[in-house]
Amino acid sequence: MKFTVMTLFPAMVDRVLNESIIGRARKKDIISVDCVDIREYTQDKHRRVDDYPFGGGGGMVMRCQPIYDCYQDIVQKNKPKPYVVYVSPRGTVLNQKKAKELSTLPHLAVLCGHYEGIDQRVLDEIVDEEISIGDYVLTGGELPACVLIDCISRMLPGVLAEESSYENESHYNGLLEHPQYTQPRSWMEKEVPTVLTDGNHRLIEKWKNEESIKLTKKMRPDLIRRPVPDNKRLRFVTQEDHDILIEMMDSFYHTPGVLHEVPKGYFEKTFQQIINGDPYVNAYIIQFERKTAGYCLLSHTYSNEAGGLTVWIEEVFVSPDFRGHKLADKALREIFDLYGEDVSRYRLEVTADNKTAKKIYYRLGFKMLDYQQMIKE
Ligand SMILES: C[S@@+](CC[C@H](N)C(=O)[O-])C[C@H]1O[C@@H](n2cnc3c(N)ncnc32)[C@H](O)[C@@H]1O
Repeated sequence: MKFTVMTLFPAMVDRVLNESIIGRARKKDIISVDCVDIREYTQDKHRRVDDYPFGGGGGMVMRCQPIYDCYQDIVQKNKPKPYVVYVSPRGTVLNQKKAKELSTLPHLAVLCGHYEGIDQRVLDEIVDEEISIGDYVLTGGELPACVLIDCISRMLPGVLAEESSYENESHYNGLLEHPQYTQPRSWMEKEVPTVLTDGNHRLIEKWKNEESIKLTKKMRPDLIRRPVPDNKRLRFVTQEDHDILIEMMDSFYHTPGVLHEVPKGYFEKTFQQIINGDPYVNAYIIQFERKTAGYCLLSHTYSNEAGGLTVWIEEVFVSPDFRGHKLADKALREIFDLYGEDVSRYRLEVTADNKTAKKIYYRLGFKMLDYQQMIKE
């Protein structure tokens, strides 16, 4: 994969990405990193690249011209043109899912800001996406660019040593990694858990999984609500599910159990929220014999009345070809297992005459609510 970094400090990025695993990946030509100096493109006779902001305020703003000319030069030298990410604190916060998605691109160009940022007009002209590396502000985009490139590169084949797989690590499957131990077996009277030294691989795997869940519940309870995808019936939605999921959502909104049509643009928006790891939404693909049979869309909220996390079962849909296998029923039971005690209440809406759905929900333990619902949009 090819990376081009547009920056005022090319040496800074180049040096960081020349060390260790990423440095080796560059030497082995698994990735290439080209750091381009934006200042080389300025037409200002004093080589300035920034100016005072219109409307006042402190600091300087990077001007359009050098950045645009730098970009044009990159585009001219690279066909097809690269996907451009501006690293910025106002972007979508980077996560493992996003890095995985970007790792499928042939060429990524990363634009680094400095000072107070970049003139919006050039951003509107050349940037495909803004990505932040966290909710804090750094002096420049160079470190975020390194973080982004490191995170993407280690998921490319051949970058990590064969035995160390990123698939087992924190965040890949929605959980944090279990604790790790190495020699010596005893250190300051602290022992390595015996299960890891007894050689029973089944028990080792079980221990690792349990420790992962325990640790995630303790350190990041927000993640545990997005359970693991190693389930048979349910799996996480991935970018590849885009077309089929949108199609299924459209079918869902044409079933008799739904009272209102929904603009198709909403499906796209919801899909992006799911892929971006929005904490308020969660979705699963329902599988049957490894085929995509349906989906389940959930949203997360808090209820004082229920005393905790409330999960709305927004949509459960099984495609016509897969009906008759009780898939909706089984998928919901798996969801209850996956969320476990973290959830105080599940809620859903059902039309008064949808007898089939009501039968399933009653069987699963739902009861009718005496309240009437009201909405404002
Ligand atoms: C001082 S920051 C500008 C902050 C900007 N004035 C604001 O309030 O959003 C300078 C540059 O650092 C980079 N940067 C700072 N914090 C970042 C973060 N959390 N993630 C990604 N890039 C960041 C961006 O490229 C940004 O243009």
